[in-house]
Amino acid sequence: MENKKLIVGNMKMNLTLKEVKSYIKEMEDYKDCAIVCPSSLYLSYFIENGFTIGIQNISEYNIGAYTGDIAPVQAVSMGIDYTIIGHSERREYYGEDDAMINRKIINALNNKLKVILCIGETLEEKENNMTEDKIKKQLLNDLQNIDSKLYENVIIAYEPIWAIGTGKVPNSEDIYTITKLIKETIKEKFSYEPKVLYGGSTNDNNIEELNKITNVDGFLIGGACLVPAKFIKIIETIKNNK
Ligand code: PGA
Repeated sequence: MENKKLIVGNMKMNLTLKEVKSYIKEMEDYKDCAIVCPSSLYLSYFIENGFTIGIQNISEYNIGAYTGDIAPVQAVSMGIDYTIIGHSERREYYGEDDAMINRKIINALNNKLKVILCIGETLEEKENNMTEDKIKKQLLNDLQNIDSKLYENVIIAYEPIWAIGTGKVPNSEDIYTITKLIKETIKEKFSYEPKVLYGGSTNDNNIEELNKITNVDGFLIGGACLVPAKFIKIIETIKNNK
């Protein structure tokens, strides 16, 4: 994998078609700089316009009678390179547990989709000093039974749940410590060294500070990726520093 920092935009369930069209125009000069994950409805617009694309969710099943689902092989056939798996919103609102997340990861990897696996602790877990345990548990459960040749296609996004969409960001030292823990745990258990992204209230004002954390390999950006001016400022800051 190349050494450049990865910038991923998670658009979640946002934007109407009209807004998507103007977003694509405004991001024209930056489409090579980030992986954009729009609502699945709009994937083809982004693909036709030359963006590198991730899908926000993927089925644990292969092609067949699974109403409303999208199979990895379908995503790959559209030119989609990445899938987010295990986002805390999917875990919380759709009841996705580690066992399901593990099945989704295996299905995605077996069908040549790269995986961005999201993990992170709740505020309660943080306050009870359980962050380390939670992170390790998620990594060990979510990443088990994977063909070792495929591990290099897994990227980890550390997203403390209490930082998502709240404007609150952990201090740089804590992000450094957890990122290091993630890399060490994976190295020890699965013998590979993953890229680790940070996600949670990253914006155009705090990116300069966050970008200084030495072992963070990129960012998963929600709210701020929806506003081209903010997203472009984030991309520029990262590019100019690297
Ligand atoms: P946020 O979302 O940047 O709006 O906090 C990040 C995410 O949920 O991936």
